[in-house]
Amino acid sequence: MTNALFAPLHLGEIDLPNRIVMAPMTRRRAAAGKLATALMAQYYAQRASAGLIISESIEVDPLSGLAAPTRPGLFNATQQQGWRAVTDAVHAAGGRIFAQLSHMGRGAHSSQLEAGGRVVGPSPIAATGSIYTANGPLPYEVPHALTEDEMGTVVAQYGEAARLAREAGFDGVELHGANGYLIDQFLRDASNQRDDRYGGSAERRARFLLDVIAAAKTHWPSQRIGVRVSPTNNFQGMSDSDPVSHYGLIAALLDLEGLAYLHVVEPAIQPESLPQVAPVIRQAFSGLLILAGKYDLHSAQAAIAEGRAELVAFGEPFLANPDLPERFKRGAPLNPADKATFYTQGERGYSDYPFLAD
Ligand SMILES: Cc1cc2nc3c(=O)[nH]c(=O)nc-3n(C[C@H](O)[C@H](O)[C@H](O)COP(=O)(O)O)c2cc1C
Repeated sequence: MTNALFAPLHLGEIDLPNRIVMAPMTRRRAAAGKLATALMAQYYAQRASAGLIISESIEVDPLSGLAAPTRPGLFNATQQQGWRAVTDAVHAAGGRIFAQLSHMGRGAHSSQLEAGGRVVGPSPIAATGSIYTANGPLPYEVPHALTEDEMGTVVAQYGEAARLAREAGFDGVELHGANGYLIDQFLRDASNQRDDRYGGSAERRARFLLDVIAAAKTHWPSQRIGVRVSPTNNFQGMSDSDPVSHYGLIAALLDLEGLAYLHVVEPAIQPESLPQVAPVIRQAFSGLLILAGKYDLHSAQAAIAEGRAELVAFGEPFLANPDLPERFKRGAPLNPADKATFYTQGERGYSDYPFLAD
């Protein structure tokens, strides 16, 4: 079983040396203008031994400039050049990297959007909790429900980001349909109560995602496009009345798209109250599956050896261990992750985690 994580795999046209994926992780180290930096290039290149790196979530909305300014974007040529340095560094180190494309939707705050920007979502239902703003923490706002025309504009933004990702040298794109971002807001029925063709049934709630996939396909072959979902993550008041059957239907629709993979975030520790959705997705989706959520060496090997997934993504373990695959191979101890520096600036807790001594 030790070899399960180290069996090579064809991800579409890309050869992966192992099944260990670096999970997408926001680290808030971008420079003014939402630009990727040389430090970010170093951080990702340090982790190039992953079978596949998925970048932190990258904003597609040009009016999101001030919202979380240290979260990177990909909506202009300067940002594309910043990312080019990252992909060059990862490739020079022998790695492969997909760009995770995201839109905050109702998770944004109007005080942080540029002129003309608006907090939007599928339905006028606010996220729960509060958001940190210049005036301190404020409750999330009720989003403006996107019209079909406005949805077309947002879909085009994803398309443009996908094009820029290609120009920037990424190996593919992952569409962020998880963790309460805009696509997730469309997919789940607590946040999507539309009565037009973008709401009302799981198939209709998936239409926005399918539109975004179609936009990405104008710039990438389908085998270079992945999708991430989190059927039971309840972040910011996200929920769904029947994730098992709804995500079974969504996975069946995604199966027709010829994607590189489907990436499923599972609840960290499966509480009794949360349904097991990944097995249903496994049945409905015939392509490659990535699972994520508190995996360790043992549980990841078991997931692959038992055929529950082809790949496993590691978040905190990869953040803290740039040479995670080598440590797994040797059964070496792992550096603990320092939560205090997840979202701070600079090298500390970012590019200074030690490698194994040779
Ligand atoms: C610091 C941090 C930032 C994260 N940012 C993102 C993100 O940008 N996009 C995303 O889809 N998930 C994000 N996640 C979730 C991870 O991708 C992963 O699903 C989660 O950490 C569970 O995996 P783990 O238990 O191996 O860490 C983040 C997690 C952490 C710890």
